[in-house]
Amino acid sequence: MKKLVVATALTMALAQGALVGGAWAGDPELGRGKSETCLGCHGVPHYVNTYPTYHVPRIGGQHEEYLIAALKAYREKQRSHNTMHANASNLSDEDIADIAAYLSALK
Ligand code: HEC
Repeated sequence: MKKLVVATALTMALAQGALVGGAWAGDPELGRGKSETCLGCHGVPHYVNTYPTYHVPRIGGQHEEYLIAALKAYREKQRSHNTMHANASNLSDEDIADIAAYLSALK
């Protein structure tokens, strides 16, 4: 009986690990293509948009978890910025994971 409980717990832990792993494992190769529009604004170091004047933060080389959290926050409008909401609103969780995997690997 005890063995069964342990086995069940182990199976559940494994299933959960697979789920979490699956949700976070972005594919940087897919992310490269999906990041093309982003880099129009974010690709230039110290880029400042002239009109309206705003600073565009550097996202290449950021922590993967940070990028994912930021993009989801823009998508859900928890973080309000119209430009970034427009850019993030069509992204799926998978897109975000892929993009974050690609961007976080940039130097
Ligand atoms: C039209 C220009 C533009 C485009 C295109 C754009 N962004 Fe942004 N992005 C910005 C600006 C401006 C900010 C700063 C917003 C703020 O102050 O909250 C920002 C903020 C961010 C942040 C938060 C950075 C931080 O340090 O907190 C992330 C992450 C991000 N963008 C990722 C992306 C991704 C991924 C894409 C493509 C899907 C993208 N952006 C497309 C202009 C753009």
